Amino acid sequence: MIETIEWTPAGVVMIDQTRLPREQVFVTCHDYREVAQAIRAMVVRGAPAIGVAAAMGVALGVLGADPARLDEEFREICDTLAATRPTAVNLFWAIERMKRVYAEARSGPVEAIRERLAAEARQIKLEDIAINKAIGGNGAPLVPDGRTVMTHCNAGALATAGYGTALGVIRAAVAAGKRIDVIAGETRPFLQGARLTVWELQQDGIPATLITDNMAGYFLKSGRIGCVVVGADRIAANGDVANKIGTYSLAVLAKENEVPFYVAAPVSTLDLALESGERIPIEQRPESEVTHVFGVPVAPEGIRVENPAFDVTPNRYVTAIITERGVAEAPYAESLRALVESKEVVAR
Ligand code: MRU
Repeated sequence: MIETIEWTPAGVVMIDQTRLPREQVFVTCHDYREVAQAIRAMVVRGAPAIGVAAAMGVALGVLGADPARLDEEFREICDTLAATRPTAVNLFWAIERMKRVYAEARSGPVEAIRERLAAEARQIKLEDIAINKAIGGNGAPLVPDGRTVMTHCNAGALATAGYGTALGVIRAAVAAGKRIDVIAGETRPFLQGARLTVWELQQDGIPATLITDNMAGYFLKSGRIGCVVVGADRIAANGDVANKIGTYSLAVLAKENEVPFYVAAPVSTLDLALESGERIPIEQRPESEVTHVFGVPVAPEGIRVENPAFDVTPNRYVTAIITERGVAEAPYAESLRALVESKEVVAR
């Protein structure tokens, strides 16, 4: 399996997700500004992967910082990385974790601070892979055998440090011997489904079918889909879920057709400080992503465009939220809090 992101002596190396699947090109970020730009340009994307990238960006920034202005530069590094993408809470979660380590190490020599931060960033990456495997283990029993699983965007190895959240559930179900296949929506405008999800599944030999986003209703009505599994960028305390634009439409269609709708995400994607999804900031992306496909214009010049990158699915459409600590069901205000407060696996 391809490494999404790696800490190396030369810098932070990531596979350029804007060029997949046509080319497998790795880029090396030599300073934190390059990491910030890679997150903004979606060279690295997906909530957990953005978190890992930000943590590595902080460590890289401190490596190049002037020891005489360390506190000031540290603030600047964190602020720059935090200003890249607003919706995925894992970005802010990872930066906060790095700030805590910095505060603990601050009184020591600068070399020790640098080592601690680099070690923490690598640790966040390692933990993420283990977390995704646990999410997969908790979610696999929910996937009906012999049916089709629908997913959206890319919540796979590429969106994380490895294995994936929604695709982790699918991978774990396949590993458990379930005979399933996957339908993935292409996910306009950035085409994460077409470019990344079906590519990942193909590499793993998991049967996958690509559809355009507007075919989702047709297939959800067909009786063929056993469940929908998607990832999340931020989940509010009441279980409202921000995820890639189009997720809400899928959730409504799933409920209408009595298809279970599962969200797979690590506990670091929960934002219990937000009572509901209404206050989740939604990133607005450039118009050119809608008016152009691979640089080719597909709309008349001067047309008004909107490009919200995420939508919020109200909790009433969510059958369950699968995390590494267990599976939460409604009422989410209670079940999600219990997951955060306990390190134990919460049984369904
Ligand atoms: O804009 P993106 O590609 O970063 O959006 C990604 C998603 O919406 C994913 O579903 C989400 O981050 C979960 S990834 C495990």
